[in-house]
Amino acid sequence: MQILENISLKEYNTFGVQCYAKRFVSINSFHDLQQLLKTEKELFLLSGGSNMLLRKDIDKLVVFLNFKGISIDREDKNLVHITANAGENWHEFVLWCISEGYGGIENLSLIPGNIGTCPIQNIGAYGVEVKDCITKVEALEIATGKLIIFSNEECKFGYRNSIFKNEAKGKYIITSVSFQLTKNVHQLNTSYGAIETALADKKITSPTLKDVSDVVIRIRKSKLPDPKEIGNSGSFFKNPVISKTQFLELHKKHENIPSYSISETETKIPAGWLVEQCGFKGKRFGDAGVHKKQALVLVNYGNASGTEIYQLAKKIQTKVLENFSISLEIEVNII
Ligand code: EPU
Repeated sequence: MQILENISLKEYNTFGVQCYAKRFVSINSFHDLQQLLKTEKELFLLSGGSNMLLRKDIDKLVVFLNFKGISIDREDKNLVHITANAGENWHEFVLWCISEGYGGIENLSLIPGNIGTCPIQNIGAYGVEVKDCITKVEALEIATGKLIIFSNEECKFGYRNSIFKNEAKGKYIITSVSFQLTKNVHQLNTSYGAIETALADKKITSPTLKDVSDVVIRIRKSKLPDPKEIGNSGSFFKNPVISKTQFLELHKKHENIPSYSISETETKIPAGWLVEQCGFKGKRFGDAGVHKKQALVLVNYGNASGTEIYQLAKKIQTKVLENFSISLEIEVNII
């Protein structure tokens, strides 16, 4: 375990923003992490770097969580319990599960990031959220170095939300996540419009896990920019939830407003639609911009700073508030 100095973080965040770590350490084992916690308490945790916008150099010790490993805890005829360590890449884990015939997370194919961060924002796409398969999350408590186990309920999962974004924020280092997946009788979730259409186009009537994953990958690639080509952090904003009353008012003026009813009194509106209606889709301001195929995604064309991207986000929030009286909440962690 070697502490390095003045390390560029450009390769460590999917926005590809240039910032430096004063001190940086790559952690490859649970043991090293426990040792580190004996002497260092002021840490900046870095995993896949796929949900953060860096606006400044980091003074704290940057800890790159790189420990890998996947193990099968137990299995029976139809269920398998798997634990994956924090540094495993999410998408590679999904592909491995599919190749082994384990079902439940195929709709979450191609989401950037690592295992250790998937519970923090409860990643979700195409009708599935990772909380549906998580059985427990193990984490080291920074203050004490103790291993704490969070059950699914204790994680307090919500839409793009969990305890790790609220009362547990900054207090724990997630070291592994355990999942319960299916082996034979899979509950495929193909009801999301774009998946249904893509499967029908391919004339697939009884899809396999791989069919669903392939279709999701194709849809994501057609809409979302690959961070290796254009820096981005996926959805920059959350889809806002508004009251039914406000929705009905908006509907009068905008008949084509897309919406998902989430309860008797509340409706969710796609933030991408709101941003597009405000004229930002595909717009570029220097090297910061709004993706041309999905207005929910802010992009870095090369040399945008975190502050420039943040200023664009603020501009969008102001316009959406002005035009629709809706406050857009940022999903990405702003540093
Ligand atoms: N829309 C527009 N303009 C846009 C983008 C979207 O009008 O530029 C409209 C679409 O026409 C559609 C609706 O918004 O009617 C929904 O669009 P989409 O199906 O692409 O989903 P989303 O609500 O924009 C959410 C997640 C994505 C996830 C997709 C698919 C959030 C914040 N985002 O996007 O998650 O992939 O659903 O399930 O909930 C991510 O978190 O990084 C991410 C990409």
